[in-house]
Amino acid sequence: MKISLVLLSFLVLLPLSLQDPNPKVKAPSRAHAELTSYGFPIGLLPLSVKDYYINKTSGDFSLLLHGTCKITLPPDNYLATYSDKVTGRITHGQIAELRGIRVRAFYQWWSITGIRSAGDSLVFEVGVVTAKYPSKNFDESLDCEGTRASS
Ligand SMILES: *[C@@H]1O[C@H](CO)[C@@H](O)[C@H](O)[C@H]1NC(C)=O
Repeated sequence: MKISLVLLSFLVLLPLSLQDPNPKVKAPSRAHAELTSYGFPIGLLPLSVKDYYINKTSGDFSLLLHGTCKITLPPDNYLATYSDKVTGRITHGQIAELRGIRVRAFYQWWSITGIRSAGDSLVFEVGVVTAKYPSKNFDESLDCEGTRASS
């Protein structure tokens, strides 16, 4: 009797311990889950992704959004725009040959050409110039502010 009670409480408690320890950063789509499997936070992508394709051998990917997308990135409120198609090459901790993401800073638009994951930071590459931000700024995937339908 005592043993079965212990067993019962174990079975009841088991699902709890299997739950995601940090439900706030749950990946909203397969593309986001793919991104985390390469060591990047989901907030690099807008919330709504239409489709994506990745060649697991080369890491070449293309990502389709529901039109162009504008996001204000916390905490410094940089304005970022995403083309309706974003392409690049992803390997663990590194995104290269990136096309389709631009950020407005210092009164200019900059095309992000690569992103590296370095410990608790993300290093954004704009050609040979780099800028480093804490990864936790990108823990949450944000919705597009103004979506213009492609087509
Ligand atoms: C994936 O990438 C590999 C290595 O570059 C290449 O040989 C292969 O043809 C690619 N597959 C597709 C379906 O494009």
